[in-house]
Amino acid sequence: MAEPFHLVVTAGPTREHIDPVRYLSNESSGRMGFAIARAAARRGHRVTLIAGPVEQRTPKGVERIDVLSARDMLAAMKEHFQEADALVMAAAVADYRPRRKLRSKWKAKEQGGSPSIELVENPDLLRTVARRKGGRFVVAFALETEDGLRRAAAKLVAKNADLIVLNGPSALGSDRTTVTFLDREGNQLELQDRSKDEVARALVRLME
Ligand code: CTP
Repeated sequence: MAEPFHLVVTAGPTREHIDPVRYLSNESSGRMGFAIARAAARRGHRVTLIAGPVEQRTPKGVERIDVLSARDMLAAMKEHFQEADALVMAAAVADYRPRRKLRSKWKAKEQGGSPSIELVENPDLLRTVARRKGGRFVVAFALETEDGLRRAAAKLVAKNADLIVLNGPSALGSDRTTVTFLDREGNQLELQDRSKDEVARALVRLME
């Protein structure tokens, strides 16, 4: 994409409520997605950042939309991807949510026995949105602990993305990471032990 483009970036975890005060979530800090938003804005691109609940400063010049649940994130993506040129899906979306959010606190002890929460699957946000992506450029992320390259290549195709960024588990909560970029032609680029800002800059340059 030669001209300045409009990029939608998702970042951080999603939060799936059990009741008004309890939820299921994950350890994502949002650092990678925020770094990508910052790098793209610095290069003069228009950036819409859809963020789960994280403690990160909004990068200068970036339009930020805060969401909580996976379904909220999907609604925001549908609205903003429509007019965008590209999507980077760096959010750590919860795969499951409680079947319903209780209106008052869950009194698990009153139920006795071993309480359990019924979960239902969340939609795959990336797959849902990228299905009809047309010419827009879509970047997925994969965090794998084994057989990473093969699994990432399969996800790239399954999610109809143009590029996937493969991370190891050391990326979680850390500022440094080793990643591999994989594209549809089978090209691979490994960046070893880089800061997330460096990875973000490399990704933005690659999209240009
Ligand atoms: N993703 C998404 N919607 C989901 C789950 C994941 O859009 N419900 C996106 C993530 O943002 C990321 C990519 O899909 O870009 C990661 O895919 P995947 O590996 O399927 O997610 P995990 O749940 O981490 O994978 P696994 O099934 O291996 O645990």
